[in-house]
Amino acid sequence: MTTLDNPTLALALTVILRPAIQSDLPKLEWYGQYTHFRNLFRRTFREQEQGRRVMLIADCNDFPIGHVFIQIGGGQSRLADGNRRAYLYSLRVMEMFRGQGIGSRLLQEAEVIAAEAGFGWTTIAAAKDNPRARQLYERSGYRVFMEDAGNWSYVDHEGRVRYVHEPCWILEKQLRLR
Ligand SMILES: CC(C)(COP(=O)(O)OP(=O)(O)OC[C@H]1O[C@@H](n2cnc3c(N)ncnc32)[C@H](O)[C@@H]1OP(=O)(O)O)[C@@H](O)C(=O)NCCC(=O)NCCS
Repeated sequence: MTTLDNPTLALALTVILRPAIQSDLPKLEWYGQYTHFRNLFRRTFREQEQGRRVMLIADCNDFPIGHVFIQIGGGQSRLADGNRRAYLYSLRVMEMFRGQGIGSRLLQEAEVIAAEAGFGWTTIAAAKDNPRARQLYERSGYRVFMEDAGNWSYVDHEGRVRYVHEPCWILEKQLRLR
């Protein structure tokens, strides 16, 4: 029997873009793939409740199959200054759902959220070893305006500090309200 002979179901799935809710938090770990980010997810959710960040989720059948986070509050940095520039980060789609436009829609909706909150610009980082992400952002209207050494750290679910070194391009886009 060849693959072509196998019984096949063609599914039409509905994906809803919405802010995260509390019950998404364990599911965001994607069955162990991102358990090490448990504290980060919790902290980001708290900051969403305080109006400083938005966790935008791509929901399929009540499961977060993709997300992008938006930093809208605080900060004096060139990435997010609290009033003109919002920073989009942690754009990720589950591997089996990639290449179907979900990442691009998350990006677009994050920009709408930022624009409606009064921001004129969004910024985003693309790791230098991830040229396809940079291409995706450039196709979406972003341009590189600086680079960053990408040094940061977080505390994992076992209380260990994890250090990340991920040199990246920083891109920006001027938003236009629809
Ligand atoms: C980047 C990512 C969010 C895109 O999501 P997506 O739903 O596949 O995006 P879309 O279907 O809207 O667009 C596909 C485009 O994404 C880009 N892309 C970047 N990394 C990719 C990957 N690992 N697989 C597929 N596409 C990827 C490509 O430009 C691709 O277009 P192409 O097929 O013509 O090369 C997704 O690939 C992902 O989660 N990658 C791993 C995490 C990551 O790299 N995030 C970016 C942080 S720097």
